[in-house]
Amino acid sequence: MQIKTFEEYQQAYDLSVKQPESFWAQIAENFNWNKKWDKILNWNFTDPNINWFVNAKLNITENCIDRHLTDKANNVAFYFEENEDGKPTQTITYQDLHDEVCKLANVLKEFGVKKGDRVCIYLPMIPQAVFALLACARIGAIHSVVFGGFSAQSIQDRINDSCCKVVLTSDGAYRGSKQIPMKSTVDEALQNCTSVEKVLVYKRTNEKINLVQGRDFDWETETKKQSKFCTPEIMDSEDPLFILYTSGSTGKPKGVVHTCGGYMVFTCYSFLNVFQYQPGQIYWCTADVGWITGHSYITYGPLLAGATSVLFEGLPNYPDAGRFWKITDKLKVNIFYTAPTAIRSLEAAGLDFVKPYDLSSLKVLGSVGEPINEEAWQWYHKHIGKEKCPIVDTWWQTETGGILISPLANITKTKPSYATLPLPGVQPLLVDDKGKEITGNGVEGNLCIKFPWPSIIRTTYGDHERCRQTYFATYPGLYFTGDGCKRDEDGYYRITGRVDDVINVSGHRIGTAEVESAINQCHDVVESAVVGYPHDIKGQGIYAYCIVPKSEKTHDELRKEILSIVSKIIGPIAKPDKIQIVNGLPKTRSGKIMRRILRKVAEGETTNLGDTSTLLDPAVVQEIVNGKL
Ligand code: PRX
Repeated sequence: MQIKTFEEYQQAYDLSVKQPESFWAQIAENFNWNKKWDKILNWNFTDPNINWFVNAKLNITENCIDRHLTDKANNVAFYFEENEDGKPTQTITYQDLHDEVCKLANVLKEFGVKKGDRVCIYLPMIPQAVFALLACARIGAIHSVVFGGFSAQSIQDRINDSCCKVVLTSDGAYRGSKQIPMKSTVDEALQNCTSVEKVLVYKRTNEKINLVQGRDFDWETETKKQSKFCTPEIMDSEDPLFILYTSGSTGKPKGVVHTCGGYMVFTCYSFLNVFQYQPGQIYWCTADVGWITGHSYITYGPLLAGATSVLFEGLPNYPDAGRFWKITDKLKVNIFYTAPTAIRSLEAAGLDFVKPYDLSSLKVLGSVGEPINEEAWQWYHKHIGKEKCPIVDTWWQTETGGILISPLANITKTKPSYATLPLPGVQPLLVDDKGKEITGNGVEGNLCIKFPWPSIIRTTYGDHERCRQTYFATYPGLYFTGDGCKRDEDGYYRITGRVDDVINVSGHRIGTAEVESAINQCHDVVESAVVGYPHDIKGQGIYAYCIVPKSEKTHDELRKEILSIVSKIIGPIAKPDKIQIVNGLPKTRSGKIMRRILRKVAEGETTNLGDTSTLLDPAVVQEIVNGKL
């Protein structure tokens, strides 16, 4: 499965385009299937309807765990580093992983969870989060992980959208110097969730919590009673594996659905090739299991490859900005994968936090989640990689399931800020706003993909039409990513950022419509418009313009209220960085807000605001410019 040279990459790529079916059949032979496929692929991008490894049967956890037990039972699957510095590293072998996953799967069965049922997971970055995903997959339940930074309201919306039967959570979470409540947030969410029958609570912080008789159970007590064996449920290749909610340009977050067979094949293949993982190496991805990176490149990809990973509960800057490098030194990490926002914040802290540590074990560095600016790339390359580690700038999305455009470490020549070339099986193209393909090199356009890869989104949960509309209708016959992209003279791809109303804050996707709808819940606000603006650390910050006609409150009081309402409705991650109280918004005569102007003002532009002649009231613009924060 592993490509070794650039020539091999080119050959694999050519084959994957000319004969995709035989290409993927060969890769798929490396896994355990209960029954092989009748056909490799059936697809159309119109409905859309995409089936990989048609009628094949498998269980992904058997491939992640059981098949490694013959020769790797005592190999370490995870080294767990706690939030608090100085605690001993915990070791979880593949055998331990097997036993814990099976016990938890048996608890779920006892709770009445069956194949196809949905289970919500709301946990900190502790080993139990990984056990939780795999326990669901073991019995064919569909996991829906909600990131720990989301509010009760967001949990409630997600639970209700997919009618989850069980919630797996903890009493609280450690996050740097803070202790965050988890169970009480779930309790609040469950006040309006009729589908949830049982809640399993892991004691992490030992804070006082409320246990509802007959509904809430203690994790340790329940798992202890269970057997270490649980026969894996045999799944169809196209049975759903998980739902993961993600924000788009309109409406509430949608539940992106991934299925078993294709996701398994692609996450393992991309992991092995992008990072060039070698047996015995130690790999560390700093993401949270609450996001797709934590699904594909902390849980499934590395385990499918039988890798040894680091799992980290804490933050990059706690107790100080040397924490990542201290752990790298301590565990002799070979492959390190993080987000540009973390790199920028550690760069800002200064080299004194890097110098004390020996980083000579590092062989490959990775970046994900947002465009990496050249300065951050150079700092990462020079001070962390000591100019000897390739940086794999991996471009992908929740919807793509796995990495689509990225260098292969030590194989593809890298270039700062470029995700470089597509992985085998991935056929990108650039189109103009009318959908016409832009050919040749040295061009820029909207990034689309013209052929399915095995881990492409299959549907949005409970609303297939929304999936069609969002990804397959803008440019008929193509999957549209929502990203703008350049292709340079060498044919290398550089992602320039979202072309829709999605803001990428510290690598997290936030829909402007979602934030606006939360702000509009504020009693004094009659209307709002939210845009992104360049932010030194976060990549993009959230800038909110809010119309408040008349209020007794000061602007500071209003801002506090707006922040608290956004925190309550979405979660602290969506809090605007800047809130400007205005009397009006620039609108066209048909009532459409001209965001282009608001974006320019937020970026600091004062004069060059483009054509404002179609505005209903051009005077509004000057007032906004004058009041800019
Ligand atoms: O805009 C792109 C950006 O993140 C978006 C996907 O966000 P999400 O689904 O949350 O997944 C993040 C982790 C895969 C993309 O549409 N993005 C992701 N990786 C990169 C990137 N932008 C530039 N370069 C990247 N390497």
